[in-house]
Amino acid sequence: MNTPTSLKDKKIVLGISGGIAVYKTVMLLRLLQKAGAEVQVVMTPNAKEFVTPVTFSSLSGKPVVSEFFTANSGEWHSHVDLGLWADLMLIAPATASTMAKMANGVADNMLITTYLSAKEPVMIAPAMDLDMWKHPSTQRNLEILKKDGVMIVEPQSGYLASGLTGKGRMAEPEDILKSVEEYFSRSQSLKGKRVLVTAGPTYENIDPVRFIGNYSSGRMGFEIASELGKRGAEVVLVAGPVNLDFNLGDNIKRIDVCSAKEMYEVSRKEFPEVDFAIFSAAVADYAPEEYSDSKIKRENLSNLTIKLKRNPDIAAELGKIKTRQKTIGFALETDNEIENAKKKLIKKNFDWVVLNSMNDPEAGFMKDTNKITMISSEGEVLPFAAKSKKEVACDIIEFLERYNTNE
Ligand code: CTP
Repeated sequence: MNTPTSLKDKKIVLGISGGIAVYKTVMLLRLLQKAGAEVQVVMTPNAKEFVTPVTFSSLSGKPVVSEFFTANSGEWHSHVDLGLWADLMLIAPATASTMAKMANGVADNMLITTYLSAKEPVMIAPAMDLDMWKHPSTQRNLEILKKDGVMIVEPQSGYLASGLTGKGRMAEPEDILKSVEEYFSRSQSLKGKRVLVTAGPTYENIDPVRFIGNYSSGRMGFEIASELGKRGAEVVLVAGPVNLDFNLGDNIKRIDVCSAKEMYEVSRKEFPEVDFAIFSAAVADYAPEEYSDSKIKRENLSNLTIKLKRNPDIAAELGKIKTRQKTIGFALETDNEIENAKKKLIKKNFDWVVLNSMNDPEAGFMKDTNKITMISSEGEVLPFAAKSKKEVACDIIEFLERYNTNE
């Protein structure tokens, strides 16, 4: 894909921290420019020990930003302006120390202040010795950065500057370029589209302290919403009660609800305005017929019978009124999986149904992975390998992107 125009008009802040891999960043800068990007380099003080700023300023055609002030003139370099200017901040190499500072907001150099002010998405290409990479502290910071929405270009295995062999080598400049190009092509794919996503469980209250619920964590739906947002879609995320530490990004409107009835009412209101809907919520099918305003006392509980009434089937109700919308639903099945999922697809008027089999150890509630089969209203049945929920979210969204390009 490396054409002279693949990054045309894209503005990139290239952050460089101090590791031996800086020599590869010289080539990366050239590749970004050849692909059409305008690049502003920001270096940490340590990075300048490896390759001088002159190399980067000559190649980029812009003075390298490194200090908060220019020593002789007192001119202030605004990290805030850089954050507003760029379409992407790319940090390569990202050392263990820079990752730790990013994860904890330790703003003691220009690179980190720029990161903390960045309005644009951030991608890092870590580079360090294998033991530093494996260290629980680095891995913890990596997880924090992922949660904060930072994109990671994984380091590669091979010969390291320390003389050891293992994982930690910065990805090759060509691979980093590819990740940048993929990010930009992805980031536009659903621009201008509106998507409704339902996520999480619903709680059906019995009294002020008790409810009927289920084990759904909501992670699948949140990953879907976040990935849709990264592709430029405007997302309405209707979320049941979840306990997730999740940075969703800017173009996502999250509406928290508790019961199936509330989730239905909000979704019904939003549905006419959207192009796509993804129903990932594990909606309780029944709710107590009566709600007790005061806590039901134990004496009364021994013989308690709770009468249940049916909840609205959100997906089915919206399926009845859909016009231009394309919809994707989920089916969590224990037996006759494909057959039951196909029945749900018809009953709820889905265009695609995502089958989760409870028989797969990698699928289902409370898991980090998912293993899905996509089934279409045209009869296609496409099984996928077990993947992280983030990767599964990307796979599902590709089916929406198909409609987008076909229109
Ligand atoms: N769904 C919904 N509203 C409900 C129940 C389900 O919107 N009241 C949606 C889910 O978000 C999912 C799909 O319908 O996309 C299928 O959910 P599932 O619980 O598997 O199906 P049910 O219709 O409840 O069937 P059953 O529990 O009998 O398998």
